[in-house]
Amino acid sequence: MKGVLLHGGLGTRLRPLTHTGPKQLIKVAGKPVSQWVLEDFKGAGIDEVAVILGGVAPERVVEYYGDGSALGLKITYIYQGYPYGLAHAVYIARDYVGDEEFVVYLGDNLILEGIKKFVEKFSDSDADAMILLAEVEDPRRFGVAKFDSSGRLVGLVEKPKEPPSKYALVGVYFFRGQGVFKVIEKLRPSWRGELEITDALQGMLEAGFKVDYGIIGGWWKDTGTPKDILEANRLLLDQKVREALIEGNVEDSSVEGRVIVEENSVIRNSVIRGPAFIGSGSIVENSYIGPYTSIGINCRIQGVEIENSVLMDNVTITSLDYRLVDSIIGSGGVIRKNSNRPRGLRLFLGEMGVVEL
Ligand code: G1P
Repeated sequence: MKGVLLHGGLGTRLRPLTHTGPKQLIKVAGKPVSQWVLEDFKGAGIDEVAVILGGVAPERVVEYYGDGSALGLKITYIYQGYPYGLAHAVYIARDYVGDEEFVVYLGDNLILEGIKKFVEKFSDSDADAMILLAEVEDPRRFGVAKFDSSGRLVGLVEKPKEPPSKYALVGVYFFRGQGVFKVIEKLRPSWRGELEITDALQGMLEAGFKVDYGIIGGWWKDTGTPKDILEANRLLLDQKVREALIEGNVEDSSVEGRVIVEENSVIRNSVIRGPAFIGSGSIVENSYIGPYTSIGINCRIQGVEIENSVLMDNVTITSLDYRLVDSIIGSGGVIRKNSNRPRGLRLFLGEMGVVEL
């Protein structure tokens, strides 16, 4: 089975973080969201993956993952250009997948239990497609499944105002054969001007293709908003950091619980309380790093208290009078005390930046 990772989209709800890069490269618990996805492919026995690139700095994705060998994968890049929608992104992978079975995975979706058992389920079946569903409180922001009274899947509708069930479409879709491509060729753009993968699956049902489904019991997240990023970071730190791993230098500090301190980092005169992640080359001095904090690589943290926050790479934070909580700081961000005159807050914020004091 081949993998198709969708890495496009504008990530508007995550601006300003997504002005300069795709949302799937935002790091949670030390790794970009799409790296968790690529590792899930690998864990499920899928070694060949096409990464479909969108319009926001696609070169950064190529630079980060290269040919995929560092992850034990063979990655092929396909450029989508204009964002015509998820079904269009799938369509441009048709030559890549050829006659093989394939699984499409949205690069901003995280599934804690992974897709391995669903890969096996689909391989053992004779279905033309298989979708994954998860029960959610408010399905209106997702594709939603419709069942008949005997529990048979009879329809799929994208972001309905009145959801026919509580089962949302998770961003993982399995296909075999060319059926899906034939249906996509006939699709019309939705109200949001995109060719929807949900409509493609609905088209497959209408054309008599066999569409199976699997239900995700555990945690699943579509990381579309800042709140989602913080929640994903919490869950991944909780579930994936099973024990402490200290590779950097720890001096006159207390490192408590499950904490990863990567190589070439320095923790000095500080308290680190896990679960937490500190990336390579970072320096933490005279600080308190509280639970559910992920710090990227080459950051400088001095005289600061931080909790439940995500810092990307090359962030500098020094001498704050406040404790930083529930925060997301983009790469290269600087937060420091202003001791110059005139005294006061001096802000230099990107478009759509948010400060809460
Ligand atoms: C997309 C799909 C939707 C699915 C969701 C899962 O939505 O269109 O059916 O439920 O991913 O993450 P989008 O993220 O494009 O709004």
